[in-house]
Amino acid sequence: ATERTLSIIKPDAVAKNVIGEIYARFERADLKIVAAKMVHLSREKAEGFYAEHKERPFFKDLVEFMTSGPVMIQVLEGENAVLKNRDLMGATDPKKAEPGTIRADFASSIDANAVHGSDAVESAAREVSYFFSSDEICPR
Ligand code: CMP
Repeated sequence: ATERTLSIIKPDAVAKNVIGEIYARFERADLKIVAAKMVHLSREKAEGFYAEHKERPFFKDLVEFMTSGPVMIQVLEGENAVLKNRDLMGATDPKKAEPGTIRADFASSIDANAVHGSDAVESAAREVSYFFSSDEICPR
């Protein structure tokens, strides 16, 4: 089925100047960018996004990292988009990511792991609406 998923290019990958390289991978996989914005997240916005991880020991570092520089946020649309994007990203820990995945190629640690992608269709809907209003999404 055609799905939408939320993708974030994290501060480490923006700083490495590989936004275009990562976009090219989305496009080669037939994922369409139907919305995009670059933002420097506030602490409140980052904490709200990761609210489900609030009690995890890595929460503070995660919020610190995600607010350390601008991120590029996009909505990807396509057949099986949620799983397809997760396959493109590779495992959360870049040491465990398959060769050729975004994290294997561009990430340096489990915190600075280059990209975020929604993990299910339900969380994708929530994450997309956390960052984009419906008039900012351009189906095509
Ligand atoms: P992300 O998909 O953005 O969702 C939560 C983030 O927390 C995750 O990517 C990692 O970058 C970060 N993180 C740090 N430590 C861990 C951990 N032990 N398990 C899962 N995620 C972690």
